[in-house]
Amino acid sequence: MSTNIKRIAVFTSGGDAPGMNAAIRSVVRTAGYNDLHVYGIYRGYDGMINGNIKRLERRDVGNIMHRGGTILKTARSDEFRTPEGRKQAYDALTAHDIDACVAIGGNGTFTGAKIFMEEYDIPFVGLPGTIDNDIYGTDYTIGFDTAINTAIEAVDRIRDTADSHNRLFFIEVMGRHSGYIALHTGIGSGASSIFLPEMDDSLEKLSDMLNKSAKRKKLFNLVIVAEGNKNGNAMEIADKIKILNPQFDTKVTIIGHLQRGGSPSCQDRVLSSRLGFAAVNALLDGKSGVALGVINDKISFTSFDDAISKTKELNKDLVEMAEILAL
Ligand code: F6P
Repeated sequence: MSTNIKRIAVFTSGGDAPGMNAAIRSVVRTAGYNDLHVYGIYRGYDGMINGNIKRLERRDVGNIMHRGGTILKTARSDEFRTPEGRKQAYDALTAHDIDACVAIGGNGTFTGAKIFMEEYDIPFVGLPGTIDNDIYGTDYTIGFDTAINTAIEAVDRIRDTADSHNRLFFIEVMGRHSGYIALHTGIGSGASSIFLPEMDDSLEKLSDMLNKSAKRKKLFNLVIVAEGNKNGNAMEIADKIKILNPQFDTKVTIIGHLQRGGSPSCQDRVLSSRLGFAAVNALLDGKSGVALGVINDKISFTSFDDAISKTKELNKDLVEMAEILAL
């Protein structure tokens, strides 16, 4: 141990993600093992500003591993974007003698931590907590695996009715800026087409493909639409396709927040536990201003600067493969 850290705080911020509770549990128990005191900050940066901070003991994090959402609650804080908000947050942290923080969230969370650390001398490390899997510096984010399994389950149910009625279904999944959820859901459900924010997919191409596959006696089609794709939302795309192809019996389903809740998958529980454990050890090793992740099954560290500014590219080989397998 090469630091004087005695008290750490942990909080979740931005969209909740299944596995956040397992990460909190891991932080609390690893810290306890190292004789540190842990404090939970409730409702993210808003809670930091308002001093909504409470001691967390080992037993406080018992029986939470399997629960979705976050026991610490979460928020997207506008106030923390202001210098006054951050000053209040600093005062609240020092009032509780907090020496370091573990921030669990996405890019917005890391951006807040980075700006705060430029102004105040409290070390932060970040854990990638978002179902979107869109954080540079990690192969997987906390919650992604659960979200795609939830989405797949929903699509499998829709498939039954699509098959029974010979229908064309547009199914919208989350991902404002990133197509990871859509791509994996699409591949896993054998979708006919996947609309991704990163690609310039055309509706004419889809229309053409649907007509060709109808000639080959393909009787139903599932099209997965990432909410952030360039052609509009699933409803808008379906309306345009209906105009071009009135012969198809077209339906739309928006999976929405269903895919953000629920009990975390084993993979998310293990990932979260590993990251929480590594976060406390990283702080004790004197690391700061870094986002943790897992690359090729090894814990990785990426500066907040890189994690925020660099884009995690979609695997283009998977995109190409999905198209070929759908033919
Ligand atoms: O960042 C995670 C995410 O679930 C996105 O996929 C989605 O666009 C967004 O959050 C929705 O956020 P909110 O719940 O605040 O509407």
